[in-house]
Amino acid sequence: MDYDADLPAHVERVLAEFLRTAGGPIREIEPTFGAGLDALSGFVLGGGKRLRPSFAWWGWRGAGGDPSDRELAEGVLHAVASLELIQACALIHDDLIDSSDSRRGSPTVHVAFAKEHADHGWLGLPSTFGQAAAVLIGDLALAWADDMFADAPLPPATLAAARPAWRAIRTEVLAGQYLDVHTQVTGDSSVDAALRIDRLKTAAYTVQRPLHLGAALAGASDELVGALLEFGGDLGVAFQLRDDLLGVFGDPSVTGKPAGDDLREGKRTLLVALGLGYAAKRGNTAAAGLIEAAIGAPSLTESEVDDVRAALAEVGAVDAVEQRIEELTSASLAALERAHLAEPATAELTALAAKATKRTY
Ligand code: IPE
Ligand code: IPE
Ligand code: MG
Ligand code: MG
Repeated sequence: MDYDADLPAHVERVLAEFLRTAGGPIREIEPTFGAGLDALSGFVLGGGKRLRPSFAWWGWRGAGGDPSDRELAEGVLHAVASLELIQACALIHDDLIDSSDSRRGSPTVHVAFAKEHADHGWLGLPSTFGQAAAVLIGDLALAWADDMFADAPLPPATLAAARPAWRAIRTEVLAGQYLDVHTQVTGDSSVDAALRIDRLKTAAYTVQRPLHLGAALAGASDELVGALLEFGGDLGVAFQLRDDLLGVFGDPSVTGKPAGDDLREGKRTLLVALGLGYAAKRGNTAAAGLIEAAIGAPSLTESEVDDVRAALAEVGAVDAVEQRIEELTSASLAALERAHLAEPATAELTALAAKATKRTY
C-alpha cells in the first residue's frame, strides 16, 4: 500500500494495532473495563474523516519528509495517527458537554452507556453512569494519545522537535472548549468572540498544529512553520464555520450528528452572531425575536428550528457565513502558495481544504 494514496488505511492500521496492544494488560487485570476499551476502539476505528493525521502527514511531506524511507514513514505514521486519539477525547467529551445524542452515525458514548445502565436496570440514574463512563473513556483516549505519540518509533531528536506542537495541540483545544462554554453562559454574541472560539477550539487542533507537528518532524524552518500556521488558521476557521452551518442546516444521516443542537444548547456561533446583528440592523424584530428565543431553548421543536433556519437565511446571515468561508479558504490557499512546499503537498493540501469546507447540504 502506498503511504500517500492510502493514508487513512495506514492510519487505521496503526491505530488498531496500538489499541489492541495498549488495552491488553488492563483487559486481563479487569475484564469489566473491557466495555470501556471496546467503546473507545469502536469509536476510533468506526469512522471519522482522519483530517488531523492527514494535515500532519502532508505537513511532513511538504517540509521534505520522504516516505521511501519506510522505517521513518512508519514512525511518522504512528506520531500523526495519535492525533486521532486526541480527537476521540475531544469528541467524546464534547458530546457530553454539548448534550449531543449522536456522533459518526451512532449513539454518543455517554448515551450508549446510559442505555447499558437502563437495559440492565442498574442502581442510580442511567445518565449519571453514562456521563461518568464518557469522562473516563475520554480521559483514556487522551492518555493513550500521549503514549502513542511518545512511543512512536522515531529517533529521539526527531520526536523532540515535534513536542512543542504536540503540547500546544492539547492545551489550545481545551482553552477553546472552555471559551465555547463560557461564551454560551455569558451570552456574548459578538463576531469577535465567535471567531476567537473557532480559532482555538477547532483551527488550532484540527489544522494548524497538526501541520506544525508534521513539518517539525521533518525539521522545518520557523519560516515554513509560520506559513503553515497562517494557512491552517484561516482554513481551520472556515472548517468550523462549515460545521456551524451543518449543525443547523445539515442532514444528520450525512453528518452523523444532530441538527439544531447548537441552537438548543445556546452556542454563540458566527451564524447566530451575524443573524442577531443583521436582524437588529435591519429592524427585523420578528427575526431577531425568533433567533433570540431559540438560543439555549432545550425543547426547541423541529418546526421551530425550521423557523430559525428561515430567519437566519432571510436576514442574510447564511450568505454572509458562506462568503466568509470562501474568503477564509482563498486567503488560506494564498498562504499555502507562499509556503512553497515540496510537491505533491500543495496539491494534496488544496484538496483537503476543499474537502474540509465543502457545502454538503
Ligand atoms: C468534528 O471534527 C469537530 C470539529 C472540530 C468540527 P471532524 O469533522 O473532523 O470529525 P470526524 O473526526 O471526521 O468525525
Ligand atoms: C468542535 O466542537 C471542537 C471540538 C470538538 C474540540 P463542536 O461542538 O462545534 O463540534 P461538533 O459539531 O459537535 O462536531
Ligand atoms: Mg462543542
Ligand atoms: Mg459539539
